[in-house]
Amino acid sequence: MTDAPAPRPLLHFAPERNWINDPNGLVFHRGRYHLYYQCNPDGVIHDHLSWGHASSPDLIEWEHHPVAIRHDDDGEIYSGSAVVDRGNTSGLGAADAPALVALFTHASRHPSRQRQSLAFSVDDGLTWTKYAGNPVLDRGTGEFRDPKVFRYEGPAGSYWVMAAVEATDRQVLLYRSDDLTRWTFLSSFGPERAVDGVWECPDLFPLAVDGDPTDVRWVLLISLNLGGIAGGSGTQYVIGRFDGVTFTADPEATGEAIDWLDFGRDCYAGVTFDGLAREDRTLIAWMSNWDYSKYLPFVGGPLTHGMMTLPRRISLVRVDGRLRLRQQPIAAAVGEESVTHDIVAAAAVDLGSLPDAGRIVVRVDTQDASGFVLRLGGDDADAGGVVLAYDRGARTVALDRRHGADEVHESFGSIETMPVTGGHVLELVIWFDRASIEVFADGGTRVLTDLIAPQQGRVLSIAGVGGEVRVERVGVASV
Ligand code: FRU
Repeated sequence: MTDAPAPRPLLHFAPERNWINDPNGLVFHRGRYHLYYQCNPDGVIHDHLSWGHASSPDLIEWEHHPVAIRHDDDGEIYSGSAVVDRGNTSGLGAADAPALVALFTHASRHPSRQRQSLAFSVDDGLTWTKYAGNPVLDRGTGEFRDPKVFRYEGPAGSYWVMAAVEATDRQVLLYRSDDLTRWTFLSSFGPERAVDGVWECPDLFPLAVDGDPTDVRWVLLISLNLGGIAGGSGTQYVIGRFDGVTFTADPEATGEAIDWLDFGRDCYAGVTFDGLAREDRTLIAWMSNWDYSKYLPFVGGPLTHGMMTLPRRISLVRVDGRLRLRQQPIAAAVGEESVTHDIVAAAAVDLGSLPDAGRIVVRVDTQDASGFVLRLGGDDADAGGVVLAYDRGARTVALDRRHGADEVHESFGSIETMPVTGGHVLELVIWFDRASIEVFADGGTRVLTDLIAPQQGRVLSIAGVGGEVRVERVGVASV
């Protein structure tokens, strides 16, 4: 069964129809961002996995393209990555017209087997040919997937590196190749840190600390399902060193604690673009969770089909002597902000009404209170909507999306908690539309992403908790 074209979500990439999950093959090539993604060309369930395709000049306006790589007799086309084969190392393009090369998992069910295969495009990513020598990497196992390939240039030499997972072993395996077709084993990482779910969709890339090109660390992203911080699917990251062979966690950078990319329930399988400058490293994740993605009401509602998070430029910053990933969203320009200053609130105060999609920037002084409650999309100042609560003592921001959740799925209602540096004054940047919310705190080093149930009301309100708060500034802008 296929369905009618979906109503376009207001802020995020979503396909025109049918099922989607992970972003795949993110690559910036000749001025365009290419987004491939797990899709079912034939229906609304997670089946017949293939790579859908869209491209964009700016990560905001997306053009939809035909399905790029279709499932075949060797299996479904699971997640993977794409690179521009500069230098034509594979021989599949030409020296002056490099091929785009995709590495993906060929997943067969009977027998259960996952191997890495290759496809290439000589028309800038529009049409793809599967390599005649597939698979290019086969360990004879059934949970070996999600190859992320990048060019390593460093003291150890210059070659292609692939990070892939043995999912149930909770291991990231690294391989190297000179031509993208013949791969030799380098090393493995894990199991360590968050291991309560299978490991999926790794990514490994260098970032400069605080923009200092002489202080570069490597970041390993590991999605895991189950066992995420908010329940179900989630993504941890590990900061470390990579010498061209082995990735080692840097305990000084992160401590022993687990670092989470996102504290919400709907940011999964996030990976970054190939082909961008180091300072432009950009991530897109699937905005859903395997706990309920298969049960979302597909047709007609704003939660239709799944969608991607806002693209996020990511960087490494030092916070209190430790390193953290910082995420800065890329979104459509907002219109004029309606700004309010200096509101004092003990009981709930109505701050105005919310547009269908946009951004809220709010700065609240909690000196005379223990926190505050910000309600988005309430029926009035006291009821309904999605509730963000700041607890100054606990140094947390919690998001409560239970209102209306029963109509979505029994496991959809939840409260998620994100640690923040805290203090008297808290500033939040919140991107929202009718189906989702992305909350950025601590300058983007803390992020919480959630789908939300449809809300009837449009009221934005705030209330002090344990006393009066002063809203220094609240700005609401629509896209
Ligand atoms: C992650 C994942 C990947 C796999 C793909 C299949 O969400 O399970 O490990 O390649 O989805 O659609």
